[in-house]
Amino acid sequence: MRLSSFFAFVALTISVVTAHPGGDHEHTAAERAQKEASSLLPNIDLHVHEPIAAFETQRMLKRNRLRKRQTPTSTAAEPHYSTIQNTTCLTAPEVIEGPYYINNEYVRTDLTEDQAGVKIVLDIGVIDTVTCTPLPNVFVELWGANATGQYGGFSTGDNTHVHTETFLRGGYYTNANGIVEITTLYPGYYDGRTAHIHTMIHKDWKQHANG
Ligand SMILES: *[C@@H]1O[C@H](CO)[C@@H](O)[C@H](O)[C@H]1NC(C)=O
Ligand SMILES: *[C@@H]1O[C@H](CO)[C@@H](O)[C@H](O)[C@H]1NC(C)=O
Repeated sequence: MRLSSFFAFVALTISVVTAHPGGDHEHTAAERAQKEASSLLPNIDLHVHEPIAAFETQRMLKRNRLRKRQTPTSTAAEPHYSTIQNTTCLTAPEVIEGPYYINNEYVRTDLTEDQAGVKIVLDIGVIDTVTCTPLPNVFVELWGANATGQYGGFSTGDNTHVHTETFLRGGYYTNANGIVEITTLYPGYYDGRTAHIHTMIHKDWKQHANG
């Protein structure tokens, strides 16, 4: 089901953006892979055995690429709305980030992967509340629970963080009119909170070679 009529409005100020710099965006894929390789291979001294370290870095990079089933998309369909519909220039209050944020997810406009559920297509407009003009090229990141209330990357049993799943996470950047269209699923219920989708807007962002 496609609900193009759903229009989400996100207002923000620069101070909100700088309060959420988006964590690990500065690290290169190789640095992150090396870090992960070190944590997964505690018995290998990566500095003493340089050739092994280089080999492991390559191996982990390849494995990570294979492990992420979804190929990131770097092209986006035009949003349904060409201009922001609600130009109310107010800062929306920041609310609970929650424990399920994972940074450095894919740059893509369809977050659904192989998850079953009711698709929703969100046209999200971002306005700078200082100048009250649309903000182009800011990264709108979403993350949400799947239809049965589970977050990708967190195990069902004890809620520990596992890195293998990427579903319903990621985002894309706003176009010249400050709008981005992202497809996700209607979030399932989980104990304690009304069904919701999280968002974080990043002003300083860049895309890595691995998506
Ligand atoms: C426009 O956005 C403001 C702020 O989020 C909201 O209070 C208002 O209800 C919205 N108006 C319409 C017509 O959607
Ligand atoms: C939601 O994710 C969990 C964890 O990966 C999975 O077990 C469950 O089947 C998923 N729900 C649906 C409806 O796909």
